[in-house]
Amino acid sequence: MIRSFENADLRERNSFRAAQRAARLAEYDSAAELPEVFERYGMPQWTVLSGGNNILFTRDFDGLLLTPCGKTITVAAENDEMAIVRVDAGVEWDDFVRWATDRGLWGIENLSLIPGKVGAAPVQNIGAYGVEVKDSVVDVEMFVPDACKYAVLAAEHCAFGYRESVFKHTLRNKVVITTVEFRLYKSPRPILAYGNLAREVEARGGATLANIREAVCDIRRAKLPDPAVTGNAGSFFKNPIVDTAVAERLRERYPEMPLYAVPEEGKVKLAAGWLIDKAGLKGFREGNVGVHDTQALVLVNLGGATGGEIAAFADKIRQRVEDEFGIGIDTEVNIL
Ligand code: EPU
Repeated sequence: MIRSFENADLRERNSFRAAQRAARLAEYDSAAELPEVFERYGMPQWTVLSGGNNILFTRDFDGLLLTPCGKTITVAAENDEMAIVRVDAGVEWDDFVRWATDRGLWGIENLSLIPGKVGAAPVQNIGAYGVEVKDSVVDVEMFVPDACKYAVLAAEHCAFGYRESVFKHTLRNKVVITTVEFRLYKSPRPILAYGNLAREVEARGGATLANIREAVCDIRRAKLPDPAVTGNAGSFFKNPIVDTAVAERLRERYPEMPLYAVPEEGKVKLAAGWLIDKAGLKGFREGNVGVHDTQALVLVNLGGATGGEIAAFADKIRQRVEDEFGIGIDTEVNIL
């Protein structure tokens, strides 16, 4: 079924609770309805508004927003080792993680409790606690409105990187993701090297799927604000990837500074949250916007802030980090 809203109020549809409006918003239950959605409501400007967890509206959207609502999860194929699972774009990401862990399927348990829907997961290659969704994606199915056709892109052609994919670049606003296919494993493959995850899992009795999921959920709840209570979009900035020489210079000043390895040679990833924290900005507030007080990578709407105010505050944080460390930090959140 298609449900269409004119002059749609977006406040309850984005986790920052920015009080913006869209000229038209269409919800659809099945990917098969997309040709009809575009025929009826197509506008020159359109984009997908999935869970609204990684988006900051700074103005009204003068076009069509598409919200997938399909909720189907099916096992497309399986053998003794693995299952190939097809998941509709509209499924809540964490509902899928729970579905998988309940069935003894390994691969995405470290990604528990990430807010958002399945269709958004490959766009920014969601990641947490040493795992990225790209490691489980087989392919991504999509609708191409310009051609009025459906297409499938195998994971190796999705140009996945750290919080990056082809869907943020050449395919941005060219395709609507409809289904994602995942490969999950039936035998244990715990990945516990990140931070204090191994300790937290051990404290719960060892590396079972249920214990890993519970540990990840508890760590996240302790650090990250609940979007149902405080408007936020998770990490606002990406962790910057810099030349090793730059990181080494900083390490001379700050020997305790965290560093993470990346696949690119001669590069290393810094923790933007640490940089913001070290610049003295954790808990810093201005008007109705603030830096979260237990995880400095997260900006929070303390109540009634506009998208424009949040974006201006973010610029200030970025500038302060640049002044202090000479490091530029890019936003992870999609600013419209
Ligand atoms: N740190 C501080 N102060 C802070 C925040 C972090 O000193 O205020 C330090 C931590 O102590 C740690 C390091 O910085 O040594 C990294 O912090 P954390 O483990 O909290 O992870 P992160 O790099 O800040 C990334 C993801 C999160 C994900 C966590 C855990 C990005 C942009 N963010 O954050 O993802 O949950 O790792 O894997 O990569 C999201 O994308 O919305 C998100 C929450």
